[in-house]
Amino acid sequence: MTAQTLHDDRTRAETQAGSADSQALLPPLQLGPITVDTPVVLAPMAGITNTAFRRLCREHGGGLYVNEMVTARALVERRPESMRIIKHEPDERPRSMQLYSVDPVTTGHAVRMLVEEDRADHIDLNFGCPVPKVTRKGGGSALPWKIRLFESIVSTAVREASRANIPVTVKMRKGIDEDHLTCLEAGKVARDVGVAAVALHGRTARQHYSGKADWDAIAALRESLPDIPVLGNGDIWSAEDAVRMVEQTGVDGVVVGRGCQGRPWLFGDLQAAFEGREERHRPALPEVSATLLRHAKLLIPYFDGDERKAMQDIRKHVAWYFKGYPVGSQLRTQLVTVDSLAMLEDLLGQLDQSIGYPGADVEGPRGRAGSPKKVHLPEDWLASQELNEAQREMIAAAEVDTSGG
Ligand SMILES: Cc1cc2nc3c(=O)[nH]c(=O)nc-3n(C[C@H](O)[C@H](O)[C@H](O)COP(=O)(O)O)c2cc1C
Repeated sequence: MTAQTLHDDRTRAETQAGSADSQALLPPLQLGPITVDTPVVLAPMAGITNTAFRRLCREHGGGLYVNEMVTARALVERRPESMRIIKHEPDERPRSMQLYSVDPVTTGHAVRMLVEEDRADHIDLNFGCPVPKVTRKGGGSALPWKIRLFESIVSTAVREASRANIPVTVKMRKGIDEDHLTCLEAGKVARDVGVAAVALHGRTARQHYSGKADWDAIAALRESLPDIPVLGNGDIWSAEDAVRMVEQTGVDGVVVGRGCQGRPWLFGDLQAAFEGREERHRPALPEVSATLLRHAKLLIPYFDGDERKAMQDIRKHVAWYFKGYPVGSQLRTQLVTVDSLAMLEDLLGQLDQSIGYPGADVEGPRGRAGSPKKVHLPEDWLASQELNEAQREMIAAAEVDTSGG
């Protein structure tokens, strides 16, 4: 069955079911007991998708809003930063979080902790991170190559989470490089041990964020896993891109990362597009500025009242919010050195309030890009898909404090 026929079948099913909105592009996404009406997922992004940013996104549209990734070991050790990361606001349901782990035992402890303390409704596992600090230890995108280790981690998480009927999903890349592709095999293994869905970022670890995401690889994964939802990720910069991805690949939903940086309203556009509506949010500068300010204010409670930390954090969002808007370089420079809310308010007050939506300059790629990079791996990692003794020992000791995907 091709991706297109899958898609056609689902669209027909939707229409035949006489759904309230027969224009809907896709039916809701079902993850175990969780129904996501708009099949859109905010990609976990370390340092970005905290309660503050998720709130802004959630206010614009439906979807599943995943936390920043948390390291299983740090979680089990209850390190303050990890306990902060896993926080959700009282009105945030489902509580979705992403775990990073290289070791089945620690994975099991972390998931058990989340279950016993009732801290999560959905758990995603990170097998996509390409940063050297992670892959050097065999983690993230390096891990599915060791397919039995991958199986052990995922099955442990599924078993522990199933005690509370919590769905587990995996997020992965195509593989380590074009000669070591892992996603089809890993997808089947994950399906066989009971994950609720798999998400694929259509790049290899070697690509990092360079080039274009390979949507054909996403279509191939969709086709190879007819019995569970497959989510597509990579290079969705607009609602139209999301629709194209669904049409080209047959995925059951999309995962959106960089495209929403500085544009939480993209989730409104995505919901509209998935419901077959044309309207799109095109904010004038005052609204963008007000959202940036609100984002900064929401970060203060996230950082337990530490205003300085919140202002340091908001700096990285400035260029994304103002991408394409005529904001002078002097003001931009000052904005990325802001260290108090008063200073931020003062600087934003200097913006020309008459500036409207500038058009195409606001759209398109943003955030991380760059060129392919050597993938740092443990010694002899690629020699076999099984762990050797040295690698086994390293894995047992490996979990690192890390961030980034
Ligand atoms: C700043 C940043 C942080 C990220 N952190 C994570 C992470 O913690 N976990 C993860 O699985 N992916 C992480 N990613 C990868 C994204 O979730 C996503 O897969 C990737 O950006 C491709 O999607 P996009 O083209 O929509 O951005 C991160 C990406 C960026 C840009």
